[in-house]
Formats: sequence, structure tokens, C-alpha cells
Amino acid sequence: MTTPPPPPVPVDDRFEFFDDRARLDYDAVVEFLTHHVYWGKWRSRADIRNAIDGSWRVVGAIDTATGDLVAFARAISDGVTVAYLADVFVVPSARGHSLGKKLVDEMIERGPGVHFRWLLHTDDAHGLYRQFGFVDPDETVLERRRIRPIPPRP
Ligand SMILES: CC(C)(COP(=O)(O)OP(=O)(O)OC[C@H]1O[C@@H](n2cnc3c(N)ncnc32)[C@H](O)[C@@H]1OP(=O)(O)O)[C@@H](O)C(=O)NCCC(=O)NCCS
Repeated sequence: MTTPPPPPVPVDDRFEFFDDRARLDYDAVVEFLTHHVYWGKWRSRADIRNAIDGSWRVVGAIDTATGDLVAFARAISDGVTVAYLADVFVVPSARGHSLGKKLVDEMIERGPGVHFRWLLHTDDAHGLYRQFGFVDPDETVLERRRIRPIPPRP
């Protein structure tokens, strides 16, 4: 017997959050991540789909008036101890409604990873993440940066 997906989380009359990836408009995520962000533009459509499918949890939001995807984030995790937050965005037309904060809140505070340690990389929006407890790393954190080039895509 399969467990039914959790009901969508209504945020207000206009925007609706969900974590059921069957509802996710992959094409809209690919379009945004390949054209409108400063990171990861090297990724192909297949790379992004694989990254989403390989993620532990995704959270999206739609504009209920249009059905269009307006916000997205994904997390990589072992499902027990630690998670990595990635590919966070709100489309420009939907900014100014606290969707970025609601998106991170939905992913971290309202999800099964609320007790995890969380990590992320970002060049900006530090102030957004600091509101959710993210702080500068201390001496216990080590990172292996990419030291070999990404191989050419087929
Ligand atoms: C960053 C982003 C997700 C924020 O979403 P949003 O809906 O515009 O933001 P919200 O209305 O929820 O508010 C964000 C909060 O973080 C703060 N903040 C700090 N740095 C910010 C930044 N660079 N951009 C937006 N908000 C920022 C804002 O001041 C606000 O706090 P406040 O309400 O206490 O003043 C959105 O602007 C976006 O998609 N930007 C492009 C992609 C990106 O940079 N993603 C983050 C890197 S991983």
C-alpha cells in the first residue's frame, strides 16, 4: 500500500507550496536555472533533472491563479543527520511576497529535516539564510572544492 502524498500547504490565497515532485514543473525549473541564475548555468537539462531526481526533498510553489511555478528549492540529504540546501529561487514576478522566506521555512522548519544540520553555498542572500539560523562556518567545517574540471557534456 502506498502512502498518499501529504496535502499541499496553503500559504495564502495566491500561492501554494508543495513537496510532491510529481507536481513539479521540471521544465520551468530548468528554464530558470539555465537562464536566470548566476550559478550552475553549465548544467544541461538532463543534469538538472538528474539533480532534482537525486535530491532528498524538493519544495515548490505555484501561483494558484496561473498554475505557474514561482519558487523552488531542493535539498540533498542522508535523511537522518544532515542536509544541503540548493537551487533556491523565487521568480522575479513573485518577489516581494516573502516567498523566499516561506520557501526556506517550508523546506527546513516544516519538513522532516528540521532537526538536521544544514549546509549551503551562496554568493548572496546571506541575510535570508541567517534568519533561519545559518551562520558562518567554524573551524570544524572542511570543504573540498572542485579541483578537477567538469568533463565535457555529451
Ligand atoms: C533570494 C530570493 C530567493 C529571495 O526571495 P524573495 O521572495 O525575493 O525574498 P523574501 O521576500 O522572502 O525576503 C527575503 C529576506 O531576506 C533578506 N535578504 C537578504 N539578502 C537578500 C537578497 N540578496 N535577495 C533577497 N532577499 C535578501 C531580505 O531583506 C528579506 O528579509 P526581511 O523580510 O527581513 O527584510 C530571490 O530574490 C531570488 O530568487 N533571487 C535570485 C536567486 C538567488 O539569488 N538565490 C539565492 C542564492 S542560493
